[in-house]
Amino acid sequence: MGYLLGLDIGTSAVKALLLKTNGDVAGSVTTEYPYFSPKPGWSEQNPEDMWQATVASIQAVMKKLHVTGEEIVGIGLSGQMHSSVFLDGDRQVIRPAILWNDVRTSAECRYIEESVDREVLVEEVCNPVLEGFTLPKLLWLRNHEPENFDRLRHLVLPKDYVRFRLTGSLHMEVSDAAGMLMMNVRKQVWSAPVLKALGLSSDILPPIVESSEVAGTITAEIANLTGLKAGTPVVGGGADNACGAVGSGVVKPGRGMVSLGTSGVLLAHLASPKLITHGTVHMFNSCIPGQFYMMGVMLSAGLSLSWLRKQLGREAEPYDALTERAATAPPGSRGLVFLPYLTGERTPHGDANCRASFVGLSATHGEAELTRAVLEGVAFGLCDSVELLRSAGWQGTGIRALGGGARSPLWKEIIASATDLALEEINVDEGPALGAAILAGVGAGVYASVLEASDSIISVERVVEPNPAWREIYKELHAIYKDLYPALKDSFDRLAHFA
Ligand code: XUL
Repeated sequence: MGYLLGLDIGTSAVKALLLKTNGDVAGSVTTEYPYFSPKPGWSEQNPEDMWQATVASIQAVMKKLHVTGEEIVGIGLSGQMHSSVFLDGDRQVIRPAILWNDVRTSAECRYIEESVDREVLVEEVCNPVLEGFTLPKLLWLRNHEPENFDRLRHLVLPKDYVRFRLTGSLHMEVSDAAGMLMMNVRKQVWSAPVLKALGLSSDILPPIVESSEVAGTITAEIANLTGLKAGTPVVGGGADNACGAVGSGVVKPGRGMVSLGTSGVLLAHLASPKLITHGTVHMFNSCIPGQFYMMGVMLSAGLSLSWLRKQLGREAEPYDALTERAATAPPGSRGLVFLPYLTGERTPHGDANCRASFVGLSATHGEAELTRAVLEGVAFGLCDSVELLRSAGWQGTGIRALGGGARSPLWKEIIASATDLALEEINVDEGPALGAAILAGVGAGVYASVLEASDSIISVERVVEPNPAWREIYKELHAIYKDLYPALKDSFDRLAHFA
């Protein structure tokens, strides 16, 4: 039996996972790396740190599990979406990557909306123009760092950069390319009308490959460095959410997932594309050729809880201790509502200026209410995404739960009750790295298809149903929550320049 290696280049760490070809997860290693916020609203990372953490994770997981390079038959990558890695003609990094949660590009977003016909945008890129996407970052570089823009020869995303370092070949994989706002999502080609309207050339955009297509092989130099075997195939892989879907079995219409990491994602698989003409729902290519998914993205889901833990001076405590304390507060947190917009919001508002708020805070509220309100506020944000997906035709009744936040039974019950969806617990919670390993298996010919592999490896073990009493309370509170953003919007805009 052989192994498949899945690498997930996340926002705070690289995870390397080894999957036995029989479908059992052998184990994984995670190596953290820093991200920087040089100015409010900015979020950057050094691609070299991503690479070093990848090498460290590969070496460590092989050592920990006593697996040799000869035994690894395929490699797949997954990673944070949208984050820009800028390379010069020698394929050297020009400046730190600008990440998906960076919101410096509002002016560039307005410029795109003014320069590209609305119908062309909908038809071509099938997505709203949002600060986090890659195209506005490219325009920001042109506007603010012209000397760096002049040097730019290749624009790639984190996992595609790491694949380039492993194999020496530069490609963009389709599910990630979809999040750049430069690809015709339905035709899977770089969008000539969009690029032309903005005076950009597709020369800087590498060829597009499918998720399970072999895009290169491990070079002799990297084999020496890592212990992998030279010639091992490396597939395109997929965006973290697309790979998260594969790694949780969300590979058929009707299935959906909620992922609670730094961001919060509600995703529904689609057999065919949907032209979503309004709002902030994203529509991207899935890792299954010719299939898609739509999703809502909250920027600060897990981030809201980790922020609160830090502010409460509880960083030494496990999250379980926090959520146990939150469970002592009643549903509704005694009238305290949290808007989870710490770093602005994508879905449903597409607003870089809005900020988080506790509304209804009283002298009787303590840590338990503050924490429960944060868990509930994120759940209400997910309700907004559920409503948008429903209005785009999604009819699912259950969603698979993954990510760090999904380990909390309380948070799951709150989300199930607020969204009125059954939260499905699956047998493995390895997320995108598992999806990447499955894609590697398809590319290496171990598995016949993504659907077959994913369905044979992943199954639903338990379901958290909505709690009827909480459901009633959350229905009422979600209505109040929804009134707060419009009421505060003007204040958020006026507050923005003080930041
Ligand atoms: C999706 C998005 C985030 C990142 C997180 O559009 O921006 O979910 O992919 O890594």
